[in-house]
Amino acid sequence: MHPVHYYQTLIAEHFSTLSIEKEPRNLYDPITYILSLGGKRMRPVLTLMAAEVFDTDAGKAMAAATAVELFHNFSLIHDDIMDDAPLRRGNETVHEKWDINTGILSGDAMLILAYQYFEQYEPVVFSALAKLFSKTALEVCEGQQWDVDFEQRDDVTIPEYLKMIEYKTAVLVAAAMKMGAIVAEASTENADLIYDFGLNLGIAFQLQDDYLDAFGDPLTFGKQVGGDIIENKKTYLYLKALEFADATTKAELLHLFSIQPVDNNDKIASVKSVFENTGAAKETQKAIEFYTLKAFATLEKMDIASDKKEKLKDFGENLMKRQV
Ligand code: IPE
Ligand code: IPE
Ligand code: MG
Ligand code: MG
Ligand code: MG
Repeated sequence: MHPVHYYQTLIAEHFSTLSIEKEPRNLYDPITYILSLGGKRMRPVLTLMAAEVFDTDAGKAMAAATAVELFHNFSLIHDDIMDDAPLRRGNETVHEKWDINTGILSGDAMLILAYQYFEQYEPVVFSALAKLFSKTALEVCEGQQWDVDFEQRDDVTIPEYLKMIEYKTAVLVAAAMKMGAIVAEASTENADLIYDFGLNLGIAFQLQDDYLDAFGDPLTFGKQVGGDIIENKKTYLYLKALEFADATTKAELLHLFSIQPVDNNDKIASVKSVFENTGAAKETQKAIEFYTLKAFATLEKMDIASDKKEKLKDFGENLMKRQV
C-alpha cells in the first residue's frame, strides 16, 4: 500500500484527463465546470485506498472511484440549489453561473454518467456495485429531504440529526470504501467492516462540515461562511446550544432562527457567539473526535496488516485537522 498522496495524485491526474465536451454545451459545460473546481476528492481517494487495503491495484478501482466522485459532484449541484448557496470551492455555484434549470438537468446527467462507469466491470462486480450505489443514492436523497424538512422544525432531536447526516453524507463515504472492497473481491465481513469505518468517518466529517460552516475562515473556506445559519439549519452546533443555553439565551436563539433578515451579518455574529458561549462549539469538536475514534476502533476488528490500518488512521487524523 502507498502513502495517501499517491492516491491523491492518481485521482488528480485521472480527473484532469476526463473530458466531457459534448453538445449541448449548456448541459455539459456545467459538468466540466464543477469538476474543474476540484475539491478535496476524498471519496475517490478512499475507494482506491480500500482496493489496495485488500491487495488489489488501485487502477482496477478507478472506474468505481470516478463514479463516486461524479455522484458527489451531482449532489453538490443540487444541494447548492436547495441551500440557496452562492459559492462552491471558492467560485460561483452552478445555478448562480447558469440558472436553476441548468443545475437540475446537468446534475441529472452527472448521475447517469456516474452509473455508466460501473459498466466497465464484469457482471458479478457490476451488479454488487450497482446495488450498493442505488441503495446509497436513495439514502442520500432521504437525508437531504430530512435536512430541508428540519429547517422548518424547532423540535429536532440529536438522534434525528445524527440519522440525517448519516444518510445525507456518511453513507456515501462508507459506500466509496466498500466499492473498493467489492472491486478487490474482499470477504463480506471485511467489506462490511470497511463500510462501518467509512460511516463513522463520514459522520465525523459532516459534524466538522457544520463546524466549519460557522467558524471557517471566509478567505479559504470556499463556501459562504454562515450559510447554515442563514438557512436555519438544525446542526449539532445549534441543537447543543439549545440544550446548554439558559432560558434567556434559548429564547434568543429560537428567535434568531425564526427570522429571515435582509442583511444576515448580525444574525450570523449573534448565533456564533451563542454557539461559543454555551459550549456548543467545544461539544461539536468533541463529537468530531468521538466519531473519528469510533471509526478507528472498527479498524481494530479488521483482518489486515497494521501498516494499512496506520494509513487509514492517518487519513482520518488529517480530516480532523482540515480547514476546508
Ligand atoms: C461537501 O463535501 C458536502 C458534504 C457532504 C459535507 P466535501 O467537503 O467533500 O466537498 P469537496 O468535494 O471537497 O468540495
Ligand atoms: C451536503 O450537506 C450533503 C450533500 C451534498 C448530499 P451540506 O449542505 O452541509 O454540504 P455543503 O456544506 O453545502 O458542502
Ligand atoms: Mg449545502
Ligand atoms: Mg445541504
Ligand atoms: Mg455544510
